[in-house]
Amino acid sequence: MSQSISYTYSDSNGVAAAPRRKVAIVGAGLVGSLAALNFAQMGNEVDLYEYREDIRKAELVQGRSINLALSQRGRKALAAVGLEEKVLATAIPMRGRMLHNVRGRTSIVLYDPCTKQCLYSVGRKQLNELLLNACDAFPNISCHFEHKLATANIAEGQMQFRRPNEPQLISASADLIVGCDGAFSTLRQQLVRTPGFNYSQEYISTGYLELCIPAKDGEFQMPPNYLHIWPRDSFMMIALPNQDKSFTVTLSMPFELFAELKTHQQLLDFFRQHYVDALPLIGEQQLIKDFFKTRPQHLLSVKCKPYHFADKALILGDAAHAMVPYYGQGMNAGMEDLTLLSSILSQQLPLDVALAQFTESRWRDAYAICDLAMYNYVEMRDLTKRWSFRCRKWLDTTLFRLFPRRWVPLYNSVSFSSMPYSQCIANRQWQDKLLGRLMTFTLLASLIAGGAIYARRLR
Ligand SMILES: Cc1cc2nc3c(=O)[nH]c(=O)nc-3n(C[C@H](O)[C@H](O)[C@H](O)COP(=O)(O)OP(=O)(O)OC[C@H]3O[C@@H](n4cnc5c(N)ncnc54)[C@H](O)[C@@H]3O)c2cc1C
Ligand SMILES: *[C@@H]1O[C@H](CO)[C@@H](O)[C@H](O)[C@H]1NC(C)=O
Ligand SMILES: *[C@@H]1O[C@H](CO)[C@@H](O)[C@H](O)[C@H]1NC(C)=O
Repeated sequence: MSQSISYTYSDSNGVAAAPRRKVAIVGAGLVGSLAALNFAQMGNEVDLYEYREDIRKAELVQGRSINLALSQRGRKALAAVGLEEKVLATAIPMRGRMLHNVRGRTSIVLYDPCTKQCLYSVGRKQLNELLLNACDAFPNISCHFEHKLATANIAEGQMQFRRPNEPQLISASADLIVGCDGAFSTLRQQLVRTPGFNYSQEYISTGYLELCIPAKDGEFQMPPNYLHIWPRDSFMMIALPNQDKSFTVTLSMPFELFAELKTHQQLLDFFRQHYVDALPLIGEQQLIKDFFKTRPQHLLSVKCKPYHFADKALILGDAAHAMVPYYGQGMNAGMEDLTLLSSILSQQLPLDVALAQFTESRWRDAYAICDLAMYNYVEMRDLTKRWSFRCRKWLDTTLFRLFPRRWVPLYNSVSFSSMPYSQCIANRQWQDKLLGRLMTFTLLASLIAGGAIYARRLR
């Protein structure tokens, strides 16, 4: 269903060949390695610099494979480099949310009962490895691991890298520097200094910690094809299935609450009270070990603009728009950056014009998904439990079934379509207004009808 993009570089059919550029990509995470593939596909010389060692050679951390939900936008971007099928082959489909209440009873809310689309749970490490392997297959991508960008002079296209155990910085240059170096991007720090660059960041007062529900007798301990959620108002827990039949569990709650759980007993009591069904699956000893092993992590949302500097620098992915993880869209949005960028670059405009067009076409949607992610944080931990939410969900699903083209619910437009994020919000506002009017109309109509019946009785 996702079409791949093809490019023309030859002069033979009258189209001017895209100039070959030396492109440096900083960060070989999910977005950086995909960016390398895109730029190489367009005929550039690519140097991919990564701070960490090659994850394919890194030591395996048993049973702690961190996973992500892949949806339409990420799939489309992977399809453009011919990797969608390969990724989906080992991914685990999740057809809906399985909600666990305080007594351990479960209920299912399907994501898409109408057209049956689903999210896919993918291992971060596996996906990153697959992308890096694809990079190796390109003669024009050179990977440089253990190269940490220390400083950059973006106007000059100069970079300095730090290597482990080497006192001297290493210099390198490029025509274009692309920062895919994550939420704490070093390249973005350079952009922050340029005049006219808007930047804001927000830490939420909630932290997260990862736990694990291991496989038992070689089998999943819960139904695998769901995203499991334990909504508890001000906090929550979620679990996504892994290839090895374990689940990665993410416990999200305010830092003050984390701080209150100081002893083993307090932790176990807390789980017995709130996550009674999950406790035996995680295992008491394992829970204690995993919980006290690490501190809860902070979550950051970043908005900035523009994403480029002349024809010299560009930031993509979390470097450009980090978001809280509650819509499962961070990676998907970062990958979608590349779908948009590729389509703009294929128009063969001067590079500075193309990059400016990228910023202009992207920032509203990036801001929108940051806002949506913040909103979904409330929805997941709180609203999913409420009747009003379930009623709305039912109404949305019914209308979607009746008018599949006209009525696409918010969650579906974000996760299962490529509708620009800002339009997803506008679409939802239009739906809310219509439903509001419909309710008023129904209320008025019943009042009038009631009044008429009453009046008739009086006569
Ligand atoms: C708990 C959690 C759950 C999430 N779940 C989902 C989900 O279900 N679905 C989804 O779509 N998204 C999810 N996300 C978001 C997703 O993880 C990010 O959006 C995604 O990883 C962004 O990719 P990236 O390549 O831009 O950045 P990163 O993955 O952060 O990669 C950045 C890379 O740059 C390297 N680097 C950093 N600094 C330097 C430097 N100075 N020099 C050289 N290299 C450097 C890093 O080592 C790293 O390899 C989740 C995030 C969190 C925290
Ligand atoms: C890779 O770069 C070389 C020059 O170094 C060039 O001749 C070749 O066409 C490039 N290959 C691709 C696929 O762009
Ligand atoms: C920065 O933000 C201000 C205030 O919101 C806005 O007026 C201005 O246009 C923004 N600048 C850019 C480059 O977007």
